[in-house]
Amino acid sequence: MQAIRSPLRRVALQARLPVVRPRVARPFSTAPEAKSNTTLYLGIAAAVLAGGGYWAYTSSSDTAREVGTVAKSATQAAKAATNFVPSRADYQKVYNRIAETLDEAGEYDDGSYGPVLVRLAWHSSGTYDKETGTGGSNYATMRFEPEALHGANNGLNVARGIMEKIKQEFPWISYGDLWTLGGVAAIQEMQGPKIPWRPGRIDGFAKDATPDGRLPDATQGQDHLRKIFYRMGFNDQEIVALSGAHALGRCHTDRSGFEGPWTFSPTTFTHDYFKLLFDEKWVWRKWSGPKQLADKKTGTLMMLPTDYVLIQDKSFKKYAKAYADNQDLFFKDFSAAFARLLELGVPTAQFVSSEPWELKTLDEQKK
Ligand code: HEM
Repeated sequence: MQAIRSPLRRVALQARLPVVRPRVARPFSTAPEAKSNTTLYLGIAAAVLAGGGYWAYTSSSDTAREVGTVAKSATQAAKAATNFVPSRADYQKVYNRIAETLDEAGEYDDGSYGPVLVRLAWHSSGTYDKETGTGGSNYATMRFEPEALHGANNGLNVARGIMEKIKQEFPWISYGDLWTLGGVAAIQEMQGPKIPWRPGRIDGFAKDATPDGRLPDATQGQDHLRKIFYRMGFNDQEIVALSGAHALGRCHTDRSGFEGPWTFSPTTFTHDYFKLLFDEKWVWRKWSGPKQLADKKTGTLMMLPTDYVLIQDKSFKKYAKAYADNQDLFFKDFSAAFARLLELGVPTAQFVSSEPWELKTLDEQKK
């Protein structure tokens, strides 16, 4: 259905017509896997408890925090006790459930949870600091305050809430694996490139949470972008490739203060972000909000100061132009950089396979 829906939406947005969303139900099952293993059920019961613990944990009471910690430890112990070793097929099932959920967004934003799930995967990984080896996707520390409340993470409670429902259904998966898999499923289902991915992240504790200020600030320039992304171990080409994710989604005044989408097709992964940067004339928007650019022609699209820098800085511009001219190149480079981003902070020994997997899209599984 995604294959049908996205181009439809794209055409509608291009013509700036109201989007009529086809309400075709995608067949899926919400039933838990049938397994006649008593210990597994015990594990699941403990994990459901921990699910409650998760919500308690994000409340501000210290007692609730302790309850959450105990429940979480119980889950990890129960998981070990069940001897349940999820296979690649089990992870494909989680992928499928996430993929089905993307389209359950109803009137939310542009009708898909995909973009906000990509942002969750990125913000949970992009805290990595290569000097200290801290941060990254391993411990899913955004579950904890104050990281959950960092300004850069505003609005990601929506994405964490969506993922929590999936977690209830597949309690054996770690939050770090779940959130990064969410980004993979979202990119692949929104017509993007395959993102190699493998499981192995473990759930950490509040003490592992990262300090504020590790994620980029959209009001800044090239020096800031380099400082933030070099700290993660990325180079100029990867900074530009990763920024191409802004083909998706939109800014929200009640989250970042900025407003609007970058492209006319915010639920389809394309290289349009780069094309628009070069093809449109960008002017500073006159409004009371933070400094952002608007396309002169329609006034409906936006660019952040950090997006605009990609066509001003000589080194960034070279890559941005290459991606504007060649979508295949962008897809290839984005896939490599995003896959690497999602593994930041995870010790190699923790991964369950030496090579990342390519999970199948829902459409591929229908064939
Ligand atoms: C280069 C530095 C970056 C800056 C300064 C930045 C900043 C922002 C801001 C301000 C928003 C709007 C949030 C809101 O109001 O809802 C946003 C949204 C988004 N960002 Fe970035 N971002 C950067 C890089 C990235 C990267 C590397 C990715 C992924 C690989 C990414 C993916 C997204 C997505 C998909 C959205 C849309 C979310 C939605 O629709 O809810 N961004 N970003």
